[in-house]
Amino acid sequence: MKKENIRNFVIISHIDHGKSTLADRFLEITSTVSDQKMREQFLDQMGLEKEKGITIKMHPVSMDWEHEGEKYRLNLIDTPGHVDFNYEVSRALAAVEGAILLVDATQGIQAQTIRNLELAEEQGLKIIPVVNKIDLSRAQIKKTKEEIASLTDLKKKDVFAISAKEGDNVEKLLVEVIRKIPAPECPAKDFQGLIFDSQYNSFQGVVAFVRVFSGVIKKGQEIEIKPGEIKGEVKEVGYFRPQREKSGELKAGQIGYIATGVKESNQIRVGQTIIRSGSGREPVAGYQEAKPVVFNGLYTREDQNFELLKNSLEKLKLNDAALSFELQKKKGLGRGFQVGFLGLLHAEIVIRRLEEEFGLDLIVTAPSVNYHLLIDNQWQEVNSAVDWPHWSEIEKIKEPWVRLSIFVEQDFFGGVMKILNSLHGELQKQDFVSGKFSLEYITPFREIVSGFDNKIKSATQGRASYDFEFIGYKEAEVTQLKVLVAGEEKPNLTQIVAADEASTRARQLADKLYELLPDQQFKVPIQIEQEGNIIARRTLKAQRKDVTASLYGGDYTRKKKLLSKQRNRKKQMAQEGRLDVPTKVLLEIWKN
Ligand code: GTP
Repeated sequence: MKKENIRNFVIISHIDHGKSTLADRFLEITSTVSDQKMREQFLDQMGLEKEKGITIKMHPVSMDWEHEGEKYRLNLIDTPGHVDFNYEVSRALAAVEGAILLVDATQGIQAQTIRNLELAEEQGLKIIPVVNKIDLSRAQIKKTKEEIASLTDLKKKDVFAISAKEGDNVEKLLVEVIRKIPAPECPAKDFQGLIFDSQYNSFQGVVAFVRVFSGVIKKGQEIEIKPGEIKGEVKEVGYFRPQREKSGELKAGQIGYIATGVKESNQIRVGQTIIRSGSGREPVAGYQEAKPVVFNGLYTREDQNFELLKNSLEKLKLNDAALSFELQKKKGLGRGFQVGFLGLLHAEIVIRRLEEEFGLDLIVTAPSVNYHLLIDNQWQEVNSAVDWPHWSEIEKIKEPWVRLSIFVEQDFFGGVMKILNSLHGELQKQDFVSGKFSLEYITPFREIVSGFDNKIKSATQGRASYDFEFIGYKEAEVTQLKVLVAGEEKPNLTQIVAADEASTRARQLADKLYELLPDQQFKVPIQIEQEGNIIARRTLKAQRKDVTASLYGGDYTRKKKLLSKQRNRKKQMAQEGRLDVPTKVLLEIWKN
């Protein structure tokens, strides 16, 4: 393939504006995926992506297409839209020359549209603005084009209008990609490949996803991974179709993979550069390390699974560069990790992947931000409610604040303001642009971590969007709440809340646990403690739950079996003298 005929590009947008659907049409037009194999959102291969209908990982794919007698290689990276996965987007952007900016004609510009556009512009990418979903009767094509033009310096006449679902204008858009996005520059130098993602394979070691900036690489060649001292030998190179397809070599300008043979999965990081051994090539400027903003403690229910948890986190990190973790040992929880995430959805996805892909049974502690505490005249960092020192020792507390940018339609403005007013923050700016309010609000990040996403979604039927950035630390009035179930402290439910809301939050927490925990054989008290005092309590009733209700009129032996199963379970729990709080219940509590 001539390098002049290569195009590397991404599709970026707010969540659900149609990136994966547009990618489907490209795969069809270029016959990359056969008609028989095609299904909706083809590139979203992970079980969780299909279940949630969202993209979590970026997905690279190489497509070959002939246009006006010329053969082109189109390397596309589909990216996630949700704010928690922005780090995936920023990495994909470093591997390409252009971006399709997709905007849903029924939604208009939303928070992540702007954020992703800014990221693409910072990277100096050529932007092709596109309005999608024009087949829908509620599509506001003209208005959306105007919004794009007014909020960016792109021109209204240059905005494409397509239906990714029906395929209208999609082929024309592909021609536009060829015309507008520049071919990669390929300096005539030795091999240099930037790692933008990776996977682990037990035979081939770390498989690095790379954008080749210069030179060529083949199977059998010795490589070095820079910065660092790691060496390997290329086991295989190839392209994404979208599944891996071997090729003889990987050349400048292309996007593909290199099986490195390196078995130490913790030795290779996204942002490193692969060079040929002894060539002395410098690493390409990498990415900034992702900065985790929410922390959860993850512990295994059985200590013998600790090594499995450690290995699983290391493997996941290869595929999820934003993940960070640190060894912890805690009373009542044993050995585990304090894990840093980019947000609550990120945390939920990682926890579910650990349980589903690695078969772990986890105890998860409450999400926490990173606090600065003054104790004995010294500032200490604490990012777990469980580690909170005794209240009498704390002289001062500081916590991180964020600037929230919110886009909301006029109809839902009142609902959003009501939520904002409860956040202990301050409205800084309010604009009105073509039917939408654009708001800027500063608030403690703790408020965003504790259920903000859910509140906004339910108040606006999902029609508001937001983004945030950190603005620094400010003094905080917060306090620790502990939860006792059957008199036993549950460290994974301990949390930090605003001091003036402690009693309301304690009541809500007790009510929520009462609602979510299953009935027990004995009366079980749920107590919430603040600074040594019980400030809320509920009691789970002793009750026989009718496990046979669904078998009304059904067969008797099955009924008997179910009742005996229930008896055994109760016996087991009574013997162990404990009541477990299932991870599902915990995730539900954090979300709300
Ligand atoms: P994330 O990756 O999670 O950010 O989503 P996405 O941007 O990849 O969106 P996706 O392709 O998953 O589409 C979201 C929803 O919009 C799906 O239900 C699609 O079927 C629908 N959709 C996408 N494009 C069109 C379109 O042109 N017309 C209509 N009517 N629906 C569309």
